[in-house]
Amino acid sequence: MCGIVGYIGNNAVEEVLLDGLKNLEYRGYDSAGVALNDNGSIDVFRAEGKLNNLYDVLAGVRARVHHSGQGIGHIRWATHGGATLDNAHPHKSNDGKLALVHNGIIENFETLKAQLQQKGYHFFSQTDTETAVHLIDDEYKQCGSLEAAVIRAVNQLKGAFAFCIMHQNEPDKIIAVRKNAPLIVGLGHDENFIASDIPALVGKAEKIIYLDDNELAIVRQNDVTVKNFNGQVISKRAEPLSLEPEAISKRGYKHFMLKEINEQPDIIRGQLALRLPDVNRPVVLEGINPAVLTAGIRRVEIIACGTSLHAAAVARYVMESLCRIPVSVEAASEYIYQPHLTDAQTLVVGISQSGETADTLTALKQARAAGARILALTNREDSSIVRCADMVLPLKAGIEVSVAATKSYTAQLMSLYLLALSIAEAGKTLPAEEILSLKRELLQIPAKLEEILSNSGEIQQCALKFSSFKNFVFMARGVNLASALEGALKLKEISYINANGYAAGELKHGPIALLDEHMPVVAVLIPGSQTYDKMLSNCEEVYARKARLIAVSPVEDLRQKAMFDTVLLIPHCREIFSPLLVNIPLQLLAYYIADNLGREVDQPRNLAKSVTVE
Ligand code: F6R
Repeated sequence: MCGIVGYIGNNAVEEVLLDGLKNLEYRGYDSAGVALNDNGSIDVFRAEGKLNNLYDVLAGVRARVHHSGQGIGHIRWATHGGATLDNAHPHKSNDGKLALVHNGIIENFETLKAQLQQKGYHFFSQTDTETAVHLIDDEYKQCGSLEAAVIRAVNQLKGAFAFCIMHQNEPDKIIAVRKNAPLIVGLGHDENFIASDIPALVGKAEKIIYLDDNELAIVRQNDVTVKNFNGQVISKRAEPLSLEPEAISKRGYKHFMLKEINEQPDIIRGQLALRLPDVNRPVVLEGINPAVLTAGIRRVEIIACGTSLHAAAVARYVMESLCRIPVSVEAASEYIYQPHLTDAQTLVVGISQSGETADTLTALKQARAAGARILALTNREDSSIVRCADMVLPLKAGIEVSVAATKSYTAQLMSLYLLALSIAEAGKTLPAEEILSLKRELLQIPAKLEEILSNSGEIQQCALKFSSFKNFVFMARGVNLASALEGALKLKEISYINANGYAAGELKHGPIALLDEHMPVVAVLIPGSQTYDKMLSNCEEVYARKARLIAVSPVEDLRQKAMFDTVLLIPHCREIFSPLLVNIPLQLLAYYIADNLGREVDQPRNLAKSVTVE
């Protein structure tokens, strides 16, 4: 949610900033801008919409502007104020000497703005950010030092903010500030960088300093000093940046989403090799002892948002079945504002691909304050969620660039299955031979995922046939209810087609009124499940209303039934693990429909990958 970058060094500053912003585009694409120090004065270039528009703006001026090596940049996901040029960052002080980029929300901006207006400051945007610019400028005019002005100002700001700030009178530095919004400093040879996230620094910085909340870094070309908001120096460790540029490239695929869907078998294989190297030995969860994890625990609460919330719903079913422990699932944004029973006997599992989702972080902090033990599942071991947790289970999915979550969902599911198996083993809630058989079945999953991916032609055909429909229903029962919800979410977020997931048994209590020949219904049918026959009956009910049915199922014979327009085949597996398989055709269906419609698959409108505001 907004991405910021900063650079100080001898290389072509605009290239470095633009390159960094390109790799942060998943964080927002409402507008883009850079501020460049041009031999003593600060030039700001901004464009509405995607980063490409900023390239065009800069191409027009590049020939006549010669920039030295200091600058800051921004891509915006609009919160306060529309996606307009006036609201695009960087914002400048009224005298044009100070420029700032911001990620986050300043909650007390209205009060501060009124005070600054009384002092004569003019505002040119609807953003909360401009308040920070003028506040720092006001302090600067009083104390004459950028660092002191920033420290004074940030102590007056409430909310979440990561800033990069530069001042014409102090061209030797950029100041980076972090409070409740991610920010890292990248160290190079004779150059230093600032960014919201690692992809902006891949191939550039050699080491990284992770700023913590309430810290600021004074970043010079050959020196970085980190201080707290009281101005005291903090000693920080620089960690190597090991990620290769290859990790954030499309590797020949048309979209990151398609690449990431195709990476899933290897990711699952990797998790299994690490955590289930020998079926005759207990599951190994990097440093997590299941007996310690669950000692004194009477219930589990799983907290997440969006796709991660769907993984949580699968986990509830799995943990209750395998571990015989009560599990509740809460959307983080709801958990924060409702009464809950979290206490010291509660294990709270927070799931977040990015590890930066503001709602999830706030909810976990509350749960921790209530005495709960916190386990975090995240794809980003360097993210903020790690600091809210007692234990961390990494997803090991690799950087996910496409805004729509795909491989991280599958990695979440597999991590949660292994977690549940590990708890069941330690608590002996299942017979040993049953656990063995479950483990053996899990080891077959990567090959089954590959089988589905190698037969994607059928899914493409189906997508072609159904791309022109304006509405879809997804229905399933039991553990696959989450698959229906996730399939619908994937379709709606990247194709903008209205799609809703329902428990199949609930259809007759209202949603069935929507059905006619214009409403395709995607149904998940898993044989061996106690609801298989009920699902078939629900399909009959749908067919009777003339809706066209797409089945996702391992049962080839369904193709003989007139009621199914299309059957997307998946390999057989136990119902409990079937969400891992069902998910793949649903991801591909959404992908191909969105691509057929010419949508911006990797960057759907209005969305951002890392939702760092509540
Ligand atoms: C959907 C999607 C979102 C995220 C949600 C939570 O494809 O990506 O719904 O799942 O914003 O994000 P994380 O998992 O990073 O907390």
